[in-house]
Amino acid sequence: MIFAASQNPAAGSASDSPAIGSPAASGSSTPPADLPAAIDRLRRQRNAVILAHYYQDDAIQDIADFIGDSLELARRAAGTQADVIVFCGVHFMAETAKILNPSRRVLLPDLEAGCSLADACPAEEFARFRASHPEHIVVSYINCSAAVKAQSDLICTSSNAVDLVRQLPADRPILFAPDQNLGRWVQAQSGRSLTLWPGSCIVHETFSEQALLQLKLEQPQAEVLAHPECQQHLLDLADFIGSTSKLLRRAEESAASSFIVLTEPGILHQMRRRLPHKAFFAVPGADGCSCNACPYMRLNTLEKVWRCLVELAPEIVLDEDVRLRALAPIERMLAMSA
Ligand code: 13P
Ligand code: SF4
Repeated sequence: MIFAASQNPAAGSASDSPAIGSPAASGSSTPPADLPAAIDRLRRQRNAVILAHYYQDDAIQDIADFIGDSLELARRAAGTQADVIVFCGVHFMAETAKILNPSRRVLLPDLEAGCSLADACPAEEFARFRASHPEHIVVSYINCSAAVKAQSDLICTSSNAVDLVRQLPADRPILFAPDQNLGRWVQAQSGRSLTLWPGSCIVHETFSEQALLQLKLEQPQAEVLAHPECQQHLLDLADFIGSTSKLLRRAEESAASSFIVLTEPGILHQMRRRLPHKAFFAVPGADGCSCNACPYMRLNTLEKVWRCLVELAPEIVLDEDVRLRALAPIERMLAMSA
C-alpha cells in the first residue's frame, strides 16, 4: 500500500533546486519579420514540439502544437517522441516535463518565468514543515519546485486534487501545499481535513469581489466560472469551479450563452475561439487594474520562443537524484488520475 507508512525521509535542500534566472541566451541574431513561419521551420528542423498553457499570450497559443492545463501538459510532455520540448508556461511546468521525460531537451523561453506559489514554498522550510508532521501524507500541488516535489508523497493539479485526496486512506492525516485556497476547496469537496501550507497565487488573489458583483448585476444570465486558486469569498459566488481545461469544457457544454471568468484572462482566447457565439467577461483586479494577467506566464513572447529554438536555450537541467525523487510522486499522481 503506497501510503501505509510515513515516507520520503530524504528531504531535499534548497540547493537541490536549479536556479531560476540563469544568464539569458546571448544570441544577437535579429528576429525575422514573420516569426510564426520562422518558428514553424525551426520546429521541423529541430524535431521540436511546442506545448503551451492557456495563460500564454494569444500569439503563442496560436503557434502551439498543444494547449492544455497543467495535467494535460505533463501527460503530453511525458509521451512525446520529439527531441526538443519548448515549454510555453512557467518554470515548474517545464521542470515537470524534464522530470517525466529526461532524455528530451526541455526549453523554457524565459527562465525567469517562475510562479508565486512555487516561490512561497522554499524547500528548506518545507522540509521543516514536513518533519513537524511525520504521520501525514504529503500532497503537493504541481505548482512547486522539483525540490519540494522530491519531498512529497503525491503531486496533484487543480483538475485532479479532489479525486486524489478522496483516494487517500481515511486513517492518515494529510498535509497540503503550497496553495491554501485550492487546499480549502479540496477540503470542502473531499470532506477530508487538510493541514495547509499558507501559500497563494498573486494573480488569483487580485480579483475584486465588488467588480464581480457589478458584472453579475450587468450580466444576470451569465454563469460564473472560477479557478480553485481564487479566494473562498469569490468561489462562494461561482456557479462552476475547475481547472482551466474544465472551465473551457464547462463553457462548451453549458446551455448558458454568457460567462464571467475568474482566472487568468489568457483562457479567454480559447473560449472565444471555440465558442464565437458566446460572450465571455473577465473580472478585473482591485481598482480596475489588469493585474489579473500572470506576470510570470507573460514573460514568454513569440520572439523568445523563436530565439530558444535558434539557440536551444534556456534549457531545464536537473540534478538526477532530485529528479528521481520528484518523479515518484508525479508517477503516483498519473497512476491514480482518471
Ligand atoms: P491548471 O493548469 O491546473 O488549470 O492551473 C492553472 C495555474 O495556475 C497554472 O499556473
Ligand atoms: Fe503561478 Fe498564479 Fe501565475 Fe499560475 S497564475 S503560474 S499559480 S503565479
